[in-house]
Amino acid sequence: MSTYVKGLEGIVAAQTEMSHIDGQKGILEYVGIAIGDLSTKSTFEETVFLLWNKRLPKQDELDAFSKDLAKRFALPAAIVEEIRRLPKTAEPMHMLRTMVSSLAMYDEDPNANSVEAAREKSINILGYAPSIVATFDRYRRGLDPIAPQPGMSFAENFLYMLNGEKPTETMARAFDICMILHADHGLNNSTFSARSIISTLSDVYSAITGAIGSLRGPLHGGANEGVMKMLGEIDSVDDVESFVMGRLERKDKIMGFGHRVYKTKDPRANALQALAKQLAEDTGNMDLYNKSHRIEEIMEREVGAKGIYPNVDFYSATTYHCIGLKLDLFTPMFALSRLGGWSGHIIEQLEDNRLYRPSAEYIGKHEVPYTPMNQR
Ligand code: SDX
Repeated sequence: MSTYVKGLEGIVAAQTEMSHIDGQKGILEYVGIAIGDLSTKSTFEETVFLLWNKRLPKQDELDAFSKDLAKRFALPAAIVEEIRRLPKTAEPMHMLRTMVSSLAMYDEDPNANSVEAAREKSINILGYAPSIVATFDRYRRGLDPIAPQPGMSFAENFLYMLNGEKPTETMARAFDICMILHADHGLNNSTFSARSIISTLSDVYSAITGAIGSLRGPLHGGANEGVMKMLGEIDSVDDVESFVMGRLERKDKIMGFGHRVYKTKDPRANALQALAKQLAEDTGNMDLYNKSHRIEEIMEREVGAKGIYPNVDFYSATTYHCIGLKLDLFTPMFALSRLGGWSGHIIEQLEDNRLYRPSAEYIGKHEVPYTPMNQR
């Protein structure tokens, strides 16, 4: 038995052809393609095709995949009815986890887990999920659901179904870039959860449900909401220094910073920083961007030497805010994108499966006698 490593730090528990991370150099590649190239040249649909098929699609393949995905933007009536029975006060990540789990009960063969079946269920969940989030948010605002419009992309359709109007090209593209940037990232906790669950040959819905549960944690995908809350606590750029120094002195974590693998700036943070700045200028939110940038400067000075830099969640907060998304929808946005990565890993696991079953090192007592109740 190997020695115990807290948090499985540095333990290799899977092999993948999907994303490569170099934490020292700040490199992220999806199937060998640099994330900077994908975020400027690709689309979310093309990125998901790349992750699932390990190659870029030809135009006709991309058109077919996008069309197949768009068929799922329209929710089954039973799912809409189920959403409308939920408490309007439900936290969107609890709602999304519940509704994805619920989808299994409307699938004629929910437990089929051949690679083909996993692909089919994955495209179902990937297509339905944005519509589930949009439908729930409109329901809790007392608004009727909006049906998808044919011909819209994943990004356009989500914003359209959420807001009831076609998004501007800038906003749709910004959201598409966010989806590309969050799609996959090695064996992060939620992906590990998905692979571990499917390794028992359980079903895709259970594996994705488990991954959503993991992602909502504030140390993982929930950090983007934490960043926005933190920015809201800082009155102005001039207050940033005292705020950050106070948190550091109390050993409180600064949300959106640090990473188990990156010991330099997360390349996704670079891409999101540029996007956040552009959108903040366009939407009159430069105070958010300026506070963020000032936090980064101070963190670099104070803890840069410890390898603590912005991660994907730091500038995504400002980006999502400028796109007009509510705070409690930030982490669900991360989930919508990571459904692409989780599904790819589920497919990889099924292609070469072995049950995940690590060991625990027992550190308790041995040969303890059973004490009868009247002697305790
Ligand atoms: C994501 O795994 C992935 O790939 C995840 C992700 C993905 O795409 O799937 O990249 C997405 O989850 C990004 C991370 C989002 N989480 C946060 O922003 C929450 C804040 N960050 C920290 O909680 C922390 O950095 C973690 C959880 C992300 C990583 O923590 P580790 O590797 O367990 O490191 P640690 O907590 O042991 O910290 C090591 C040291 C400690 O100081 P010392 O006790 O050694 O003096 O670094 C310090 C920590 O106090 N530290 C921080 C800090 N993060 C680490 N200090 C201040 N602020 C922080 N954010």
